[in-house]
Amino acid sequence: MNTIQYIKSKLKTTLLAAGMLCAGLYSEAQQKVFKPGQIWPDDKGVHINAHGGGILYQNGKYYWFGEHKVAGDAGNRAMVGVHCYSSTDLYNWKDEGIALSVSDDPKNDIARGCILERPKVVYNKLTKKYVMWFHLELLGKGYAAARAGVATSDRVTGPYTFIKSYRPNAGQMPFYPPFTGQSEKVNCAAPASETDGFFCRDLPGGQMARDMTVFVDDDGKAYHVFSSEENYTLQLAQLTPDYTGHTGKFIRIYIGHQTEAPALFKHNGIYYMIGSGCTGWAPNAARWFSAKSIWGPWVYHGNPCKGADSAITYGGQSTHVLPVAGKKDAFIFMADKWTPKDAIDGRYLWLPISFKGNDIEIDWLDSWDLGVFKK
Ligand code: GAL
Repeated sequence: MNTIQYIKSKLKTTLLAAGMLCAGLYSEAQQKVFKPGQIWPDDKGVHINAHGGGILYQNGKYYWFGEHKVAGDAGNRAMVGVHCYSSTDLYNWKDEGIALSVSDDPKNDIARGCILERPKVVYNKLTKKYVMWFHLELLGKGYAAARAGVATSDRVTGPYTFIKSYRPNAGQMPFYPPFTGQSEKVNCAAPASETDGFFCRDLPGGQMARDMTVFVDDDGKAYHVFSSEENYTLQLAQLTPDYTGHTGKFIRIYIGHQTEAPALFKHNGIYYMIGSGCTGWAPNAARWFSAKSIWGPWVYHGNPCKGADSAITYGGQSTHVLPVAGKKDAFIFMADKWTPKDAIDGRYLWLPISFKGNDIEIDWLDSWDLGVFKK
């Protein structure tokens, strides 16, 4: 090879490399499909770190909040806080940093190393504040505390200020809608089941609150839904008008059947809830419910997932159902595929929900885009 040929070949390789780099950056900046279970790079090319998350749509943008996991043994403990990302198209996400940071004070409720799971953010029109609820377990106490934690911010991306954590509805008996049968009412003088016993045990100090979500209804009222009573029973509890406390009005759902990972949405006036069973980080079959009133009756309908691996929710566990802005009948089922040995590598399974009349169905897709929603 002479000098000219050498320079030409060098130039060619350099141009090729530059081209590939641009293409790489371009494809990173221009994701146009969802690839459930694959690495999902943010605007910096880093796999999104927002597990057990939820999404708030506000002023034309989606904000995704989730657990920031770390590499190594501490992976599933809160070493950093709640991570926030924003997007206008749902495919491409900008890293907005840490919205709620854990505290350096080991005595603080949200001390670094605690367990802080399933954060959900809602906007309160009355106070103009963003309110974040999460499941909190105090440092060094395993999963014994079973508390709900709340933080607020004036800005959607934060920083959020931690307010308090506690077990909800101390001293309060459930609200019984008129259809409630006598046998469904809890009798703390003689609890009829193990889960009733847990309810009564916790009556004075407040109900256990683990896996959770928050749902805001069309009338602006908000509800906190959480696994309670040693995870045997879900409770759906009304939040105060400012969304930072509980009013004391709540119901118990699917008593004794261990529902976790609740996600609520409303479609054509019907309330829907998707949840999971209770097998820790290992996947199990999803389950769905519907109700004509938020106070029930919540009707159990079995597994919404179809096809291969539907019995294990395709390896995932529900975390949120996202209504797609500006589209009718367009809801995305969001699940986490946990990887407890390397929590930071956990994957996101987003799949479209299909409506068959008032029933719902979820099918696996390797890759899809918002074009699947007709309108
Ligand atoms: C799951 C729950 C997760 C996490 C995990 C811990 O059942 O949904 O949020 O708490 O258990 O084992």
